[in-house]
Amino acid sequence: MEPNHTDVSNSCHRRKRIIVALTGATGAILGIKTLIALRQLNVETHLVMSKWAESTIKYETEYTPPNVRALADHVYSNHDMAAPIASGSYRVDGMIVVPCSMKSLAAINVGYCDDLISRAADVVLKERRKLVLVTRECPLSGIHLQNMLSVTQHGAIIFPPVPAFYNRPSSLEDVADHTVGRMLDLFDLDTGGFERWNGFQKE
Ligand SMILES: Cc1cc2nc3c(=O)[nH]c(=O)nc-3n(C[C@H](O)[C@H](O)[C@H](O)COP(=O)(O)O)c2cc1C
Repeated sequence: MEPNHTDVSNSCHRRKRIIVALTGATGAILGIKTLIALRQLNVETHLVMSKWAESTIKYETEYTPPNVRALADHVYSNHDMAAPIASGSYRVDGMIVVPCSMKSLAAINVGYCDDLISRAADVVLKERRKLVLVTRECPLSGIHLQNMLSVTQHGAIIFPPVPAFYNRPSSLEDVADHTVGRMLDLFDLDTGGFERWNGFQKE
């Protein structure tokens, strides 16, 4: 069969396309809210979840893994090394690992691609596309900090989910919406779902 070089799904006229990976750090709701926000922004999402992400989803939220899968346009098993997103020839606009465990951070930093999440991140880096890692651990060891510095020097953006207080959040919901909004700012996407700093306001 002749290859279809004009395939619109791979051309620059397609919808914005972002890989969303959920790993087993605490904060599964951040990954879920990211998928919801991207859906509202009409961005095409490609979802991969690790085994431990599925456990934290069940433990920490009202969602089930099938509910979360239903929020994405395309879903892959973390074992599927033949998925389109495992290749640089499949064009994407970037990848967010949210939340990102220290284990996945370490794998991405050293290029140890034994699952689809670390492989897709490796591909995003080699293609010089945008990779945002919402790394979550506290406190941080020298190993964690070194991995964060090193992966930053190789082009990734470390975005720890650290709350802001200037907007006086009244709930964890507010904190999560602010975090997701600031994270998607990095992709030039505006969720409109949080208050931006606009200087000190008069009483
Ligand atoms: C409830 C729960 C919370 C966890 N929170 C974190 C965390 O915040 N950061 C982290 O690096 N690992 C955390 N872990 C450990 C990771 O799940 C574990 O290292 C796992 O191997 C990560 O693999 P993955 O990156 O493939 O999901 C947590 C585990 C559980 C069960």
